[in-house]
Amino acid sequence: MPPATLAAVAPSRVAPRGSRALTRGAARRAPSCRLSAVAPASRLRSSPVSASGPHPSSRRAHSLVAMAAPDDAGADEGADAMSVFSPSKVNLFLRIVRRRPDGFHDLASLFHVIDLGDDMRFARSASVTRDTLVCSDDTIPLDGRNLVIKALDLFRAKTGVNQYFWVELEKKVPHGAGLGGGSGNAATALWAANELCGRPATEEELLEWSGDIGSDISVFFSKGAAYCTGRGEIVEDVEPPLPLDTPMLLVKPDVGLSTPQIFKALDLDGLSDEDPLKLLERIGREGCKDEICVNDLEAPAFGELPELLELKERLRREGEASGVASVFMSGSGSTIVQVGSDAVPEFVEKDEALFRAKTRLITREKGKWYEPSALR
Ligand code: C5P
Repeated sequence: MPPATLAAVAPSRVAPRGSRALTRGAARRAPSCRLSAVAPASRLRSSPVSASGPHPSSRRAHSLVAMAAPDDAGADEGADAMSVFSPSKVNLFLRIVRRRPDGFHDLASLFHVIDLGDDMRFARSASVTRDTLVCSDDTIPLDGRNLVIKALDLFRAKTGVNQYFWVELEKKVPHGAGLGGGSGNAATALWAANELCGRPATEEELLEWSGDIGSDISVFFSKGAAYCTGRGEIVEDVEPPLPLDTPMLLVKPDVGLSTPQIFKALDLDGLSDEDPLKLLERIGREGCKDEICVNDLEAPAFGELPELLELKERLRREGEASGVASVFMSGSGSTIVQVGSDAVPEFVEKDEALFRAKTRLITREKGKWYEPSALR
């Protein structure tokens, strides 16, 4: 079956952002309106969020591509969909503690959820065989390799609830960016599935289960600011270390970095010797500073992508005058985070290949999911 455009499959009724679905019953069936011709490939790219008007690539029309809907799915599976914001994260510092026998690394990192995020919609599907995922980025796999599908499989396995879902994903967070965009999608999928099924699981269970499918998912079940250890899946809520309205700018070259590759290239003899608990204490007292916002993955990332070091140094240099407090890489890169000012330097403004997005830290209340900040 050919892929479908969003227009052909999109729900018409959408609950407000972060709200619960209006109807809890199984999605209704309707006469076929499922599939139509796919949009030209040139229009099927995800669109980065721009800090200063539309980024060049975001001017393209948005289309969603879907894998074929299962035969037993209703034609209007998206009816009564629930819209949910899927946030991303930054690492305000990231220390690697050791390489583990299982090949992973123990880390100690201050994660913070941010308001750069994707838009997702979820509905219960009538299918009894599989989920259907529709996405604006045709480079993203839509099958079991996608973290969203993994999260829904995990939800069913852990809760025993035999419910499949219809999911629309409008990507805005770049991948290979160190921003946990895919992990945020997985966390949001767990959250939404649980809501749509009447909350068979507690938030604590969702947090605990999420570690089975990735290291960076659990943090989204914190309240937004979390000190994470282990692979990243041991999450301790902390007070936000900075005011939530602290201006931040994300800048990323159009090349992404592979997390496994960066961990593999890591030289364990070249790690910072800063005590992460001291960094945690200092950041709460002193705010972001270059000596506090250390990231042990910068060295291997800069080794892989020397232009990233140049980008960091240039942002640092040019930010002196505009009150930039710190410039550092997030996660395994390739996003560089500028804290203290979200002014876009002229060299970034002029370089169309650079992704740029103003962002703010966000938190959530227990029992609610994340909402974008007033900035958006
Ligand atoms: O858990 P996640 O799928 O995000 O990890 C991707 C890859 O990153 C892992 O397969 C591993 O190579 C590396 N990784 C690691 N130590 C961590 C997290 C990730 O070595 N704490």
